[in-house]
Amino acid sequence: MTDDNSVRGASDKQHQRKRIVVRRNGPYEPEPGIAIVDHLGVPIAAEAPVRLCRCGQSQTKPFCDDSHVARGFADGKDSRRVPDKLDVYAGQQAYVFDNRGTCAHSGFCTDRLNSVFHLGEEPFVAPSGARLDDLVNAVRRCPSGALGIGIGPERNTDLSDVSRPPQIEVSKDGPYRVTGDVVLVDEDGAPIAQNAGASQEHVSLCRCGSSLNKPFCSGMHCNVGFRDPVTDPLREPTLFEWAGGYPALLDMTRIFYSRYVPEDPLLGPLFAEMSPDHPERVAAWLSEVFGGPRFYTERYGGYRRMVSQHIGKEIRPGQRALWATYMVQSTDDAGLPSDPEFRAAFVAYIEWGSRIAVENSGPDAKPPPNMPVPRWWWVCNATPAARPSAGAGNAQAANEVSVALPSPDEAVQFERHIRPLFRPMDRNSMLFAFDLWKEEDVARHGRQILARLEAGTMPCDGAWPTERIALFARWANAGSNS
Ligand code: HEM
Ligand code: SF4
Ligand code: FES
Repeated sequence: MTDDNSVRGASDKQHQRKRIVVRRNGPYEPEPGIAIVDHLGVPIAAEAPVRLCRCGQSQTKPFCDDSHVARGFADGKDSRRVPDKLDVYAGQQAYVFDNRGTCAHSGFCTDRLNSVFHLGEEPFVAPSGARLDDLVNAVRRCPSGALGIGIGPERNTDLSDVSRPPQIEVSKDGPYRVTGDVVLVDEDGAPIAQNAGASQEHVSLCRCGSSLNKPFCSGMHCNVGFRDPVTDPLREPTLFEWAGGYPALLDMTRIFYSRYVPEDPLLGPLFAEMSPDHPERVAAWLSEVFGGPRFYTERYGGYRRMVSQHIGKEIRPGQRALWATYMVQSTDDAGLPSDPEFRAAFVAYIEWGSRIAVENSGPDAKPPPNMPVPRWWWVCNATPAARPSAGAGNAQAANEVSVALPSPDEAVQFERHIRPLFRPMDRNSMLFAFDLWKEEDVARHGRQILARLEAGTMPCDGAWPTERIALFARWANAGSNS
């Protein structure tokens, strides 16, 4: 079985069991030594003692600011919750266990392995619908711990769980995803009761305050529209952020090195001796290249280390082509974004990087010993918001801007009223000449911009409504009068 090798590698280490105290009607208090990361896998700095919000109201999320007291937050279970019932599905190669009462409705199973997990259909699980390794990986990735697997009719912990360092991921607009050897206890130190068959190693804890199954997430955060604050909606995301960060890239590299490489006659032998954490290493490299934190440099040694691993490998063109094809295939399998902009940038890097790998691996190659880790970016200004999409609803959304109209006697301010009028695609179209998001540029070209707006020739996909043109004129005229 081609199992999650990287995970197995990590599992060789013994991890010390840590505790999270679940305060009555109050926050979670993780012990020191449990890493806290955001949804991109980037560490969140936290000073001890750490108190994590679980009422959903804190203004300092993910940390507690005592809002639960004013809100009168109560952490009892709701009688409307889905009943605690373990379902067992016998398949040809394994038994799959599922407790709907534990599910947090992340959709990971139904999105990524829909031949086995059927959204809204009975039976929910068809345990013979996929290869055993894919089944195991789907069970392990279930963030709530609702799923389990066993070769016999008992849930097998080695197969269903992973041994890894304790970590809390603050998921985007959703629960805390706790992984590793972490035990949940109440204020008196007694273990928190879990549903039948629930994983002891990975659980999702409510942080919206509305779960029907507190302290565990029941998926209610979607129903109540729980949202994390967005710091700057107009900032262009990095490729790392757009991809879904380190967890998404790691999902992808794990699939690549477990599903495609070992059984391939051309690639298998090349990677036969690879280190068990190779998928982590490549995911860290890609994170750094795609504009994320310097994970590979800090954790593994940067450019020098990466190049040293290609030297002398004598990678043949056919091997490179397959490597690139499987990479793209794994990107699909892992559910990374499939929009044209992201894929153009991703494939460009894979082509570029893999051809350099071939060059560096040749018998007489002398790669430069010290180079920075490359930083890749969207290609040719093809950024996520650079064009209206033909997808249903998207075209309209791309054309919508949120305009804050000033009152007649209020001064028109560039940052507040004018900059938001220009969409990313407007800015991109004009960047060759000036920057529509910079006050001095727009002020300098104010007359020409106004003339084009009034003539309806800018933006190219449709004229502005009159009140927007009037607002711009007010700002431009006030500037030229002052
Ligand atoms: C964009 C292209 C590529 C990237 C980003 C990449 C990334 C990496 C990284 C980061 C390492 C070092 C891991 C460590 O720290 O130990 C590595 C090693 C390696 N790479 Fe690549 N690689 C690329 C292309 C290729 C290609 C095309 C092949 C062959 C078809 C290849 C074969 C190998 C092998 C055999 C190793 C050594 C694995 C081991 O024995 O541990 N790489 N690669
Ligand atoms: S929590 Fe687990 S069982 Fe529920 S939808 Fe997500 S992956 Fe599936
Ligand atoms: S985070 Fe509260 S129900 Fe999921």
